[in-house]
Amino acid sequence: MTALENILREQIAAAPGGMLPFASVMEMALYHPEHGYYGRGPRRIGRGGDFFTSVSTGPLFGQLLAMLARREWERLGQPADFALIEQGAHDGQLAEDILAALDIPAARYLLLEPNPRYREVQRQRLGDRVKWIESLAKAPAHAFYLSNELPDAFPVHLVRWDGQNWLELHVDAALSLVPAEASSPVLAAEIEKLPRDLDPGHTMEISLAMLEWVQAFSQAPFRGSVFIADYGLDAEEFLTRPAGTLRRYRQHQTDDQILADLGESDLTTSIHFTRLIAEAESHGLRVLDYDHQGRFLTRLATPWLASLEGHGLDATTFRQFQSLTHPAIMGRSFRCLLLQK
Ligand SMILES: C[S@@+](CC[C@H](N)C(=O)[O-])C[C@H]1O[C@@H](n2cnc3c(N)ncnc32)[C@H](O)[C@@H]1O
Repeated sequence: MTALENILREQIAAAPGGMLPFASVMEMALYHPEHGYYGRGPRRIGRGGDFFTSVSTGPLFGQLLAMLARREWERLGQPADFALIEQGAHDGQLAEDILAALDIPAARYLLLEPNPRYREVQRQRLGDRVKWIESLAKAPAHAFYLSNELPDAFPVHLVRWDGQNWLELHVDAALSLVPAEASSPVLAAEIEKLPRDLDPGHTMEISLAMLEWVQAFSQAPFRGSVFIADYGLDAEEFLTRPAGTLRRYRQHQTDDQILADLGESDLTTSIHFTRLIAEAESHGLRVLDYDHQGRFLTRLATPWLASLEGHGLDATTFRQFQSLTHPAIMGRSFRCLLLQK
């Protein structure tokens, strides 16, 4: 049994009804400051880690985002007071790649990072090339706000259709899932939006944390754009996933053992992009582009590829482009969303 499992069993035993919503358990599994998968410091990503991201394929992803940031800065009329703001910057690799390619005079690079251990790792890598802000309320007047694989790491509530009702899955002291009533009125209101013509047992995730995050960046004081890259699905695609999308990652293996070795493995879900976009639009944001990552990045890269004038890409860059855009690698399961605000 892991150290975290012992702590959890005690907390669950002391909780009302002897159980906790799955979301509370996932929050501790990922973010407990001593025993959480992410809480104790940036894990290695890529070869030698538990999973790959677009960032760990090489610097091309950052180079393409530097082009996108420049395009968005031009769309805003080239304001002098402009910053890139990254949330979920992990060990600072993406910031380093973007900064190496960025061509916007006087642009600042700001990180939104709640965990002091991560801030220290970022500081060691990036030094005074970046600054940290406590919240988006501190954003400058104009910004390009970006994240890669951030909301997939937010804790989710799990709900299961029993044929007549959606019930929320809780965790008992034996670390088993137990269906019960929704743990909050906010969750109950989200459940009302779910489809009901499903087979009994259909399971879905609801990310209240994602909705709060969308609300936070929508209401932040800056004008500009929001770029979100993550794996995810649209509403109708969730109908073909009766077991839901929550999964465990360890050493590049993935399975549905979501309550095994808590705190030692990554837990993650596919983003419900339809719900994310609806929430952003309800706060006045507008979709500039939303597509599979392969198509989004290919469109973005086209002027640059054309400018190579027959020289083509070197073999390393070509391999990175293929990893990012090929439908069988990251091109289809990952989606990119660009919002105007
Ligand atoms: C799947 S990793 C992605 C890391 C990196 N962006 C990449 O693409 O390689 C998710 C990251 O989000 C971070 N994270 C989760 N919640 C966060 C929050 N509220 N603010 C900032 N970072 C957060 C985690 O600590 C972790 O570093």
